[in-house]
Amino acid sequence: MVGVGVSASILDFAARRMGKPESARTGMGGQVAGDPYELIHSLVLGHGRRVASMAFELAGASGLDRRRCALLAEAAYLHDLGKLDLPASILFKVGALTSAERLALQIHPASGYRFVNRFAARMRIDCSVIASVCLHHHEQWDGSGYPLGLAGSSIPREAQIVALADVFDALVSGRSYKPAWPRPEALLAIGDDAGKRFNPELVAPFLELAADPLFGCALEPIGGCTLDFALDAVASRAFVSSLLLSRH
Ligand SMILES: [Fe+2]
Repeated sequence: MVGVGVSASILDFAARRMGKPESARTGMGGQVAGDPYELIHSLVLGHGRRVASMAFELAGASGLDRRRCALLAEAAYLHDLGKLDLPASILFKVGALTSAERLALQIHPASGYRFVNRFAARMRIDCSVIASVCLHHHEQWDGSGYPLGLAGSSIPREAQIVALADVFDALVSGRSYKPAWPRPEALLAIGDDAGKRFNPELVAPFLELAADPLFGCALEPIGGCTLDFALDAVASRAFVSSLLLSRH
């Protein structure tokens, strides 16, 4: 069984594990304070949804079939799951991280990978695409990324796509340590990194898609990035576009 539509179950699994005493945990949510559901939602709703929506559309534009696009959207939604293993002092720090904190942050791809694989083994389902995206979404085309320093086509295609959407959304979003970049500047930065940080074959279709200011807008509330969500994300964007056009 392939795990399309499993993200809600994975998040629930994570929240329940985080709610257990330290001694009962086997990997996820070691030091985070507060309601685990709230924390999870703050991580994935918003950034995770936008990255999922953008990755779904870019995957379609780059020739992946619909089922693979939906799997990818699910993986994109959960790409930062491993951050649940970080202490709140790093996760919610206002201001720049120290070098030690940055090193700790770089563990999150491996944490997410291990957690998704544990979930998959427990549930006996194939979550290999989600696990792979969790592990490789910070690899860079020129080999300068982490955790494995993979380069070029040795980086799984799904992770290449999520990396683009992830960086673009981070640039155009305000963070505690930086203001949101204007969209044109962010698009220039993405273009400059073609062949360095990103697969140049993906950058061109990404820039075309991102010229639409509604790119990445998944409007409907979701309880998990299901196949329906991935498909609806595109449909809702087209719907809003048509509404806007009808006003002119
Ligand atoms: Fe990440």
